[in-house]
Amino acid sequence: METAIETQNLKKYFGDIHAVDGIDLKIPKGSLFGVLGPNGAGKTTTIRMLSTILHPTSGDAKVLGFDITKEASEIKRRIGLCPQELVIYPRLTARENIHLIAQMHGMAKKDYKERTDDLLGKMNLLDRANSLVKGFSGGMKRRVNVLMAVVHEPELLFFDEPTAGLDPQSRRVVWDFIRDFQERECTIILTTHNMEEADDLSDELVIIDHGKIITQGTPDELKGKLGEGDILEFKIEEIDQRDEIINRAKTLDFVRWGKPVGKHRIVLNALDGLRRVSEIMDVVKVKMEDISVRKNTLEDVFIDLTGRRLRD
Ligand SMILES: Nc1ncnc2c1ncn2[C@@H]1O[C@H](COP(=O)(O)OP(=O)(O)OP(=O)(O)O)[C@@H](O)[C@H]1O
Ligand SMILES: [Mg+2]
Repeated sequence: METAIETQNLKKYFGDIHAVDGIDLKIPKGSLFGVLGPNGAGKTTTIRMLSTILHPTSGDAKVLGFDITKEASEIKRRIGLCPQELVIYPRLTARENIHLIAQMHGMAKKDYKERTDDLLGKMNLLDRANSLVKGFSGGMKRRVNVLMAVVHEPELLFFDEPTAGLDPQSRRVVWDFIRDFQERECTIILTTHNMEEADDLSDELVIIDHGKIITQGTPDELKGKLGEGDILEFKIEEIDQRDEIINRAKTLDFVRWGKPVGKHRIVLNALDGLRRVSEIMDVVKVKMEDISVRKNTLEDVFIDLTGRRLRD
C-alpha cells in the first residue's frame, strides 16, 4: 500500500510548550485518517507542519513523498487545507471566494466554473452563491471554507475541525461531503475533538494528548480494546470514597474496569450493565445518582487511557 504521509519523531516546541512531542505516523494513500484529541493536544500544530505552514523543531516528515522542509512547494501544490480558523474574503461572494482559490491554483475557467457550482450545490449553498460572504452565518462561512480547500482537486486534504460550531444538520452535510470526497481516492486527514465524528468518518485514527500519540487503530479496534461491554456512568456524593467504590464494583466479574471522571462521577465498563444496575448498587453500597448507560465510544477509550474526558 502506498503511503501518503510518514513522520518520524516529529516535534514542535514553542519555548517550554511541547505542542507536538515526537509523533510517528504512517498514513496510507486513499484513507480517511482521523486525529482525535482534546483542546491543546497538538492537532493544529501537527497539521500546520504537514501542510508546510510551520517548521518543525525536529524530526522528519514526508507528504506525498516530499520532504516538508526541503520540498514545501511540491507539497503545497498537491494539497488542500481547510484551516481551523476561517480564511475567507468577506467582501467577495461565496462563488467568488471559491473561484479565487481555483485561479490561484492556475485552473482554467472552464474547469472551475462548473465545478464550483457543483460544489456549492453539494453544500446546499447554491441559492446563496452570489451573496457576499460577510452576511453569512458562521456555519455557512465554514462550509464555503471547506469548498475553498477542495476546488482544485487536491491529492491530499487536511480538514482541521471542519465541523466546529456547526449545528447537527450542517454537520451532517459536511460529513456526507467529506465521505463523498474520500471515495474518489483522495487521502484525507481530519482533526476533531468530536468523538462521533472521528468514529463515523475515520478508517483509522490516532488519539493524541499533550503532543503524543496515545493510541492508534480503527474505531472498532480501539473501542474493542475496552471489551464489548456497556459503559455505565453515575454520580456519587462520597468523592473521598471513589477508589473504594470502584474496587468494590470490580469484585463483580462482569465489571471490567472503572475510572473516576471529574469530581463526582464514576464510569464503569460493565457487560450488560443496564440489566445489572441493581447488582452494582448492592456492592458499591452508596447512592448512585444520575445513572446512564451507553455503548463504548471513543471518548471511553480516551477516559480509559487518561482518566479525563475529551472536553474537560
Ligand atoms: N504559535 C504558538 N505559540 C505558542 N504556543 C502555541 C502556538 N501554537 C500552539 N501553541 C500551543 O501548543 C499547544 C497545542 O496547540 P494546538 O493548537 O496544536 O492544539 P489543538 O489540538 O489544535 O487544540 P484545539 O482543539 O483547541 O484546536 C497548545 O498548548 C497551544 O497553546
Ligand atoms: Mg486546533
